Amino acid sequence: RTVYVNGEYLPETEAKVSIFDRGFVMGDAVYEVTAVVGGKLLDFAGHEARLARSLNEIEIENPFAEGELLAIHRELLAKNELVDGGIYLQVTRGNPGDRDFVFPDPAVVKPTVVLYTQLKPGVLQSPTGINGIRVISVPEMRWHRRDIKTVQLLYPSMAKMMAKKAGVDDAWFVEDGFVTEGSSNNTYIVKDGAIITRPLSQDLLHGITRAALLRYANEAQIKIIERPFTIAEAQAADEAFLTSASAFVTPVIEVDGAAIGAGTPGPIAKRLREIYIDEAL
Ligand code: PDD
Repeated sequence: RTVYVNGEYLPETEAKVSIFDRGFVMGDAVYEVTAVVGGKLLDFAGHEARLARSLNEIEIENPFAEGELLAIHRELLAKNELVDGGIYLQVTRGNPGDRDFVFPDPAVVKPTVVLYTQLKPGVLQSPTGINGIRVISVPEMRWHRRDIKTVQLLYPSMAKMMAKKAGVDDAWFVEDGFVTEGSSNNTYIVKDGAIITRPLSQDLLHGITRAALLRYANEAQIKIIERPFTIAEAQAADEAFLTSASAFVTPVIEVDGAAIGAGTPGPIAKRLREIYIDEAL
């Protein structure tokens, strides 16, 4: 792969970041993942806007000039001839030259910027997206600013491993009895024709796919209720699904061993997956 590091396009084997970089030492960094389907970027503007917000929340100066980020994405797509997959982007607070809890002076230490492509041939035809996935619930143990897309992904990784060990595909976080979101996605249930999903707050990531999905659902005159839901409600729901830049709309067919609805992808989830893919392209 040709990757991007701090203004340069390099072979991945030549790309380097300092051992003192705060992204490495402190998890002091934010990221974005933008899907690429048929050579096209999905919802680029949404990811660009959320990146700006995440950077602002942790007081890292946005390193990109107007239009620059899109130009880098396009250049990486072209250099790597990427058709299906995604672009991963990470911005760290940079390399202060030693380990220190205090933020370095931003006039001296500039953010580190890394972008690379990820190849996923035939991503729209993925078996999980079509056949649905099974999930378990796990306690929510992340910090309380989940609206900031930080690279602090240890607990989500552990949750994913718990799911794997339990023989299922993913984990849903539960806090005070209610689902916050999935390990790397936003979560929904469908009851009596209405979509139920947790409202936006600092408790969950403001998914770009979520925003698009709710827009399309509204246009399709599907009722949307923004409120938290429990695992018991999910198990008794007609359908469930999740959204993310990498999973698009993916049906969820089982929660904690209980089949949802008929235990197969539901009609609303399937329809929304089709609408999302059509509209986003
Ligand atoms: N994850 N919630 C969490 C915790 C996430 O990590 C993600 C995205 C989402 C969905 O956001 P979006 O629709 O903007 O992708 C919700 C990315 C894909 C990842 O970590 O790979």
